[in-house]
Amino acid sequence: MHAELDSKALLSDLESRLDRLRSPRPAEVYEVAVGFLRERVPHYNWVGVYVVEGKELVLAAWVGKHATEHVRIPIGAGICGLAARTGSTVNVPDVAKDDRYLSCFADTKSELVVPIWWDGDVVGEIDIDSDTLGSFTKWDEEFVEDVAELLADYV
Ligand code: SME
Repeated sequence: MHAELDSKALLSDLESRLDRLRSPRPAEVYEVAVGFLRERVPHYNWVGVYVVEGKELVLAAWVGKHATEHVRIPIGAGICGLAARTGSTVNVPDVAKDDRYLSCFADTKSELVVPIWWDGDVVGEIDIDSDTLGSFTKWDEEFVEDVAELLADYV
């Protein structure tokens, strides 16, 4: 699946875009990253970055058709809170069958959340919603984990 997508080429394009920012602020890095992912990966219908602030996740950047009401999520709540609490990637193939899911968009069928680690702590996460069931494969998990590592270097 996703045979048409080359993760190494995508990562290198994202890195060049980030390198073009002069003394980037974290907000700018996240804006560039969510825009890039939404634009370059067709099944990423909504892409957001949450950052950890105390015991909450706070939405720092997003791109997609609709705004989410979940701009602050307690760590531990929902799929996002689970990924932040455990520090592990969470891939939900069918959100309707997962009662941990916090509903955002009527169109969303599957969700992938990848923590951003820095210096031994989870400092944020990348949250991706897809309008297709079972949209995310091992390819997406590994690719978005690489993106999360790249972002950690810039913020
Ligand atoms: N569905 C998420 C909430 C965030 S929205 O998808 C943007 C969750 O279950 O944590």
